[in-house]
Amino acid sequence: MERLRIEGGRRLDGTVKIHGAKNSALPLLAATLLTKDECALHNCPRLSDVDVAMRILRHLGCRAVWEENTVSVQADAVCRHDIPEGLMREMRSSIVFLGAILARCGEAALSFPGGCELGPRPIDLHLSSLRRMGAVIEEEFGVLYCRVPKGLHGAAITLPFPSVGATENVLIAAVTAKGTTVLRNAAREPEIADLCDFLTQCGARIHGAGESTVTVEGVAKLHGCAHRVIPDRIEAATYMAAVAATGGTVVLQNVETEHLMPVMPAFEEAGCRLTLWGDALLCSAPPRLHRVRTVRTMPYPGFPTDAAAPLLAMCTVAEGTGVFVETIFESRYKYAGELCRMGACIKVEDRVAVVEGRPTLFGTGVACTDLRGGAALVVAALAAEGVTVIGELHHLDRGYEDMTGALSALGGKVKRTEAEHGTADQDQSEKEKTAGQSVYDGVHPFRHDRGTDLGERAGGCGAEKRQQAGSVRKEGVDVLTQRDHRVG
Ligand code: UD1
Repeated sequence: MERLRIEGGRRLDGTVKIHGAKNSALPLLAATLLTKDECALHNCPRLSDVDVAMRILRHLGCRAVWEENTVSVQADAVCRHDIPEGLMREMRSSIVFLGAILARCGEAALSFPGGCELGPRPIDLHLSSLRRMGAVIEEEFGVLYCRVPKGLHGAAITLPFPSVGATENVLIAAVTAKGTTVLRNAAREPEIADLCDFLTQCGARIHGAGESTVTVEGVAKLHGCAHRVIPDRIEAATYMAAVAATGGTVVLQNVETEHLMPVMPAFEEAGCRLTLWGDALLCSAPPRLHRVRTVRTMPYPGFPTDAAAPLLAMCTVAEGTGVFVETIFESRYKYAGELCRMGACIKVEDRVAVVEGRPTLFGTGVACTDLRGGAALVVAALAAEGVTVIGELHHLDRGYEDMTGALSALGGKVKRTEAEHGTADQDQSEKEKTAGQSVYDGVHPFRHDRGTDLGERAGGCGAEKRQQAGSVRKEGVDVLTQRDHRVG
């Protein structure tokens, strides 16, 4: 089990090259199923989610190979139409393969993606849209059996909510369907326009790409193409938050600045100076960040829900109080409890989190609860005094390519280490090194009570909680007692 050891409290400065967008790469990989020709996706991020998508393609009979940051897929020998449950579980967004498999094979069998760390993630909009296009879908013991007895046909579809995944499934299914599909209230995230761009290069006829109403005229056949995946706006926002939390300056290279517009006002409100030129963005933070009054997540072009966690972590060390309102997912604040362990002051009530900025956080042992929650812990750890050890890194590996390298290049003291086994995590030598910061009292830092209610865990400020739990502050040293760890 690997962990990330971050020695925080040092200002980060430098340049980060942003990778291709995970949320573009996944639907693009699914869409390569639509043609027998080879497709090359350049600027593809090397992430575990991308590997899962490639394993799905190989399971279906495709050739899918890496060459540096290019993935080549040849889907000329598709021989299956199912996705094994294990792969569906590893990446819940594998549901975006449904439209592609149906379009290519005329039938599909995949397990129902369950609820996840962000709360329930229903797929009713995916299914109802595909049904309107001629799919017959039955569910038995958690497995979805889908077929298109008369082939997919165009349809007029209005989504009740601009779901990103449902929009992608409809577009992928529509490009080779018979007739015209008009999709209203489509998601407008940049990753949708990127998918349309790829499909158009393959010969699809799409009007209104990236707009609320998209019209697709079905064509008989697509051909292969080479496509460059757009830059990852969430990775960019994460590094902005990480550097800003340390009072530093970062130049982000290979960004699409237009896609970062929804997050820029929050950074400016925090006192960061932003300069844009070409495909680069400079973000320069003041020594102490100002508060960001309100962040409300919304579908694009609103503030992206995926960028809220790193920004919230940044705000834990800002001056003043800010309010975060999550409108997309039901349960996105699980990481708040971990931040509170580091001394953050966050109160969570349902979809609202109130963050009271503190002059500093302190390093301790924490665990990623989900992908963006993990990114929040990294941001906080970089700003915190002392050493933070972060566990459950598989969440981070889903969405950040070589984060350790990027942060080290910025001057961060970040190291990925192999933990021997799940016993007392910080060894004695590490305790000595971290003297002057928080230390563990022989308790495994990742063995939290996962069943604890978030409201309870993140319901109070870290400092208050430590007091209640009997922590002792001696000459600037926080000594956390065993009881403290158990109550979280
Ligand atoms: C995608 C992104 C994810 C991002 C999210 C919102 C990928 C791989 N993932 O996820 O990182 O956080 O968009 O920008 O691109 N919903 C339904 N029924 C459905 C579909 C969705 O009720 O059939 C609900 C979801 O539960 C959620 C909301 O709609 O509350 C948004 O979901 P959606 O836009 O579909 O997100 P994803 O495509 O899953």
